[in-house]
Amino acid sequence: MNTDRIAALYRWIEYAAFGRALERRRFAFLPLVKGAQRVLIAGEGDGRFLARLVRQNPDVRVDVLESSVEMIRLARSRLPPGANVTFHREDALETPPEGPFDLVVTHFFLDCLSDEETVRFIEGIKQQLSFSAFWLVSDFQQVSFWPANWHSWLWLRVMYAFFRLSTGLRTAKLPQIDRALHGAGFELVTKEEARLGLIVSQLWRLDQKGSQL
Ligand SMILES: C[S@@+](CC[C@H](N)C(=O)[O-])C[C@H]1O[C@@H](n2cnc3c(N)ncnc32)[C@H](O)[C@@H]1O
Repeated sequence: MNTDRIAALYRWIEYAAFGRALERRRFAFLPLVKGAQRVLIAGEGDGRFLARLVRQNPDVRVDVLESSVEMIRLARSRLPPGANVTFHREDALETPPEGPFDLVVTHFFLDCLSDEETVRFIEGIKQQLSFSAFWLVSDFQQVSFWPANWHSWLWLRVMYAFFRLSTGLRTAKLPQIDRALHGAGFELVTKEEARLGLIVSQLWRLDQKGSQL
């Protein structure tokens, strides 16, 4: 997947399709992670979440894994002076930076991965987490009840087609994010849904005792 070509327009495409709904999901649980000191963000995109996080937690140290040069350029331009952020322009599925991190953030990133990649990614990151680290995630989901299931099915088809054509995205269906995080020993702390359940924000916490990995 290469988002360089759509990076500058990404925000406007998002607003045209969903208004501020995705933005509200990204920021939904920010007040709950005010204590985070070392944060790993995968697939940050154009930096709107990162900028808000750094403004909320001015002493935070952040590592960003992002494969797009253009997205990194935009994200950098949004940062306040003195922000302690390291950008790693690399595949997030490769070896993660050294922790320990007390918060991981994946907003609309895991939907770019297959089931197998999602499990591998979470397992790799988990080795670099503090004992009771948090994982903040926003993403799309396929709703199972009628008629919202048709609404989410249609939006997912449209979005995967758009990203396949514009970025070369290879996967065409959502991974089982809840199952992967739960299987890695995370417990759901809280969640909120929007747009008939199509979009979800969740806060998970690592429960090392319950880990099945
Ligand atoms: C759908 S966008 C989401 C961007 C942003 N987090 C948001 O909330 O809208 C996915 C982002 O992940 C990046 N990305 C996709 N696959 C990646 C990978 N394997 N490694 C690193 N970054 C990746 C893309 O360049 C893009 O910026």
